[in-house]
Amino acid sequence: MLTKQQQYILQEMGIPVWQERIKPNIATSEANTEAIASSMDVWEKLKQEAMSCTKCHLCGTRTNVVFGVGNPHAELVIVGEAPGANEDRLGEPFVGRAGQLLDAMLEAIDLQRKDIYICNILKCRPPNNRDPAPEEVAQCTPYLERQIGYIKPKLILAVGRIAAHYLLGVDTALGKLRGQRLKFANTETDLFVTYHPAYLLRNPRDKAKAYQDLLQVKAFLS
Ligand code: URA
Repeated sequence: MLTKQQQYILQEMGIPVWQERIKPNIATSEANTEAIASSMDVWEKLKQEAMSCTKCHLCGTRTNVVFGVGNPHAELVIVGEAPGANEDRLGEPFVGRAGQLLDAMLEAIDLQRKDIYICNILKCRPPNNRDPAPEEVAQCTPYLERQIGYIKPKLILAVGRIAAHYLLGVDTALGKLRGQRLKFANTETDLFVTYHPAYLLRNPRDKAKAYQDLLQVKAFLS
């Protein structure tokens, strides 16, 4: 039987999963296929809901909803703040200069976007890249919580102050949150915090600390 990930890849390639059933008469095989299909339905429905969201006024200024990218069965979920201008234009998180640095940081621990899932606290761009407003966070984060609930990652990496503060429910300085094994809100999901790549572009001396954080992520996952 195909693994959940193989089923997902086939679906992404536009190949209907039911074509892959090799023992259509075996009840357990059908039950498994149906369970996988219905689990993918949950993800697709969530995505469709977010893509047409009008819960806050950012829907009036966005070009694209930036739902997330990567593997929704990944062990690691990276959560950033909100889409910027490039992300809004292309509909994908972390595609500007900060995104290039994030990719390089991931490469340093042998990871690529396809191995993990990347998303943001907000799915739509706040104009002029201002901080997310509390009302926007309140309306948008149920999508993030449902994404995390579906993916059930082994680890969340919060990049930057906004993501760390929301996911931990604290307002402690980011420097004090780094290096600790924390928990996502009131759940059992482990969470680490590191600097936002946009901050690292402005403060390259802290890249060494971010690398330490990434080594901690790598050690935790392996
Ligand atoms: N900064 C973020 O926090 N997220 C993005 O997707 C891009 C820049």
